[in-house]
Amino acid sequence: MTDAERFELDRPGRLRGRVAVVTGAASGIGAGIAEGFAREGADLALVDLVDERSAGAVLDAARAHGGRVSFHQADVSDESSVVSMAEAATAAHGRVDVLVNNAGIFTQSLLEDLSVADWDRVLAVNLRGTFLCTRFLIAPMLDRGWGRVVNIASQLGQVGGTEVTHYSASKGAVIAFTKALAREVARRGVLVNAIAPGPIRTPLLERETEQWRSAKLAELPIGRFGEVGEVVPTAVLLASEEGSYYVGQTLGPNGGDVML
Ligand SMILES: NC(=O)c1ccc[n+]([C@@H]2O[C@H](COP(=O)([O-])OP(=O)(O)OC[C@H]3O[C@@H](n4cnc5c(N)ncnc54)[C@H](O)[C@@H]3O)[C@@H](O)[C@H]2O)c1
Repeated sequence: MTDAERFELDRPGRLRGRVAVVTGAASGIGAGIAEGFAREGADLALVDLVDERSAGAVLDAARAHGGRVSFHQADVSDESSVVSMAEAATAAHGRVDVLVNNAGIFTQSLLEDLSVADWDRVLAVNLRGTFLCTRFLIAPMLDRGWGRVVNIASQLGQVGGTEVTHYSASKGAVIAFTKALAREVARRGVLVNAIAPGPIRTPLLERETEQWRSAKLAELPIGRFGEVGEVVPTAVLLASEEGSYYVGQTLGPNGGDVML
């Protein structure tokens, strides 16, 4: 046995032998999921709007676990960009087994002040992006009879929130998309689920107003914001064989903020 083979065997492995695409992987929750998947033995095709240099830290962290990691700069809201990304990711790894639709953007505005451009951009990244990446990566999963799609929604898509109609609409639609697609493909071996995190400490959360953050802290049952590492285990579960009876579900690592 070569050292490389021995090292392979030493890696923990709920995702061993799997190839995962993670979008929005350069920051926050996506970066955490990328590293968590790498730790579980997955090979990774990491996708982000930013360039490879800006994603350097997450690439290094993922590669430190010994798997193959490729990077693909793409805009998930753009059809031709997603088609190129899907082709490049598949070419780099031979196949894709798991897709994590994590790329997302967040802005805040009262509806009466919300620009149409802002509405369109948030829907384009959060919802259209989820559709496009799934549309151009799912067919080979269906052909092989095994696949996982994990959509990062938000609790704001479940219960709404003030000044976030566009964001809530996009994430509520991601949850509905998850349910509909899950029904369509579950019997073909592809399981589709969502995660609706509560407030998690990432650069995105820093875009919330100070007023919102202190009000939210006061009402959170757990009394603190979540950490990225508290979302990652749910993504590993849904991406792995252990999640084999979850179909169309929306799991909520949210500190008790939303209880359904
Ligand atoms: N942080 C939270 O409190 C929270 C709560 C619920 C849901 N979420 C969701 O989790 C996901 C990740 O959020 P985060 O907090 O890690 O945010 P983040 O801003 O830290 O990271 C988002 C990443 O997505 C990338 N991205 C943005 N637009 C893109 C595009 N068009 N194409 C490709 N990549 C793009 C960004 O470059 C960035 O690397 C988002 O979908 C967000 O809506 C976050």
